[in-house]
Amino acid sequence: MKKTILITGGAGFIGSHVVRLFVQKYPAYTIVNLDALTYAGNLANLSDVETASNYIFEKADINDAAHMDALFAKYQFDGVIHLAAESHVDRSITDPLAFVRTNIIGTVNLLNAAKAAWKGTMEGKRFYHISTDEVYGTLGDTGLFEETTPYDPNSPYSASKASSDHFVRAYGETYGLPYVITNCSNNYGPNQFPEKLIPLFINNIKSNKPLPVYGDGKYTRDWLYVIDHAIAIDLVYHKGKNEETYNIGGFNEWQNIDLIKLLCTIMDKKLERTPGTSEGLITYVTDRPGHDRRYAIDASKINEELGWKPSVTFEQGLEQTVSWYLENQAWLDNVTSGNYQDYYENMYASR
Ligand code: NAD
Ligand code: TYD
Repeated sequence: MKKTILITGGAGFIGSHVVRLFVQKYPAYTIVNLDALTYAGNLANLSDVETASNYIFEKADINDAAHMDALFAKYQFDGVIHLAAESHVDRSITDPLAFVRTNIIGTVNLLNAAKAAWKGTMEGKRFYHISTDEVYGTLGDTGLFEETTPYDPNSPYSASKASSDHFVRAYGETYGLPYVITNCSNNYGPNQFPEKLIPLFINNIKSNKPLPVYGDGKYTRDWLYVIDHAIAIDLVYHKGKNEETYNIGGFNEWQNIDLIKLLCTIMDKKLERTPGTSEGLITYVTDRPGHDRRYAIDASKINEELGWKPSVTFEQGLEQTVSWYLENQAWLDNVTSGNYQDYYENMYASR
């Protein structure tokens, strides 16, 4: 069936995997990738699909409401998969307003554009909002985030994502906009910008730079391979129920320090270094303010209702991720040139 789907943030980490999946799997769809190409957006992530006949790129900022309205009028989208966001917690601590603008106001601009374009013809339309498990706040030693867990965000990033989730729900309740939301755990894999834990540490190990472990290193995250997230997004877009939320997670909890040691072991092997070399780079640094202690997802709803589960183990995914970064030096050089050095100095010099 022919459809025109808007994917926002498609030049970013997760978005690029979603765009690739949709472009390749659905030749009858037209996939419009809308991205402002901030520091995190990189069209090189999509070089293998950029000439596909069912793919269109639009450089645009979701903060520009008039531009959003114009694009909805131009393409008559059947659906939206909204991933564009400011996504890094540490940056949200330095500059919360950037997160308010893109994550909250930008999302509301898209909701307004969809509401206006779909007025009177909501049937068959869908606004799919991609969110995070961080909206639920932090867990103690036990328990899991469920879809019914109350929102309790602790960082400016998670507060902005929580707010955008509320707006999406409110547009469903108030204006009848057909929506679905997923809240996913930490992703890892190829094409992730090296500000997040795993790619930053791979890059530092390669260059023999210190590995800055925040606090006591015993913070826990639930890790999911990005391609498994993209597969879940495809499933929810096509089979999920309107007005529902689905949690997506890897059934894969790791304390940071244990994950870092595993990564060091894989890197020593790949780089043919003496075992233990990379662990010697571990450096404990000042903690992140408001650092959530533990995230863990109960993904049984998407598993039972839609039959989704992760397809790769963490060891397989991490190994593939390390190989990708080692084989794609040009990609890494490109994203770490320019402002990256300044970012790194500002973020880590004072820790
Ligand atoms: P990312 O930072 O790698 O990519 C974000 C993309 O959005 C970039 O291409 C950027 O250019 C674009 N963008 C930013 N501001 C924009 C604007 N104003 N207008 C248009 N485009 C803009 O992020 P990611 O890690 O791929 O995350 C994608 C989505 O998934 C986000 O909504 C994030 O909250 C959510 N999420 C991420 C994770 C994770 O572990 N990375 C986990 C759960 C949910
Ligand atoms: P991150 O990748 O920033 O994701 P999030 O904060 O959204 O979970 O961080 C993952 C974990 O790693 C988190 O507990 C913070 C920690 N961390 C470090 O210890 N050092 C670092 O340099 C970074 C970037 C993160």
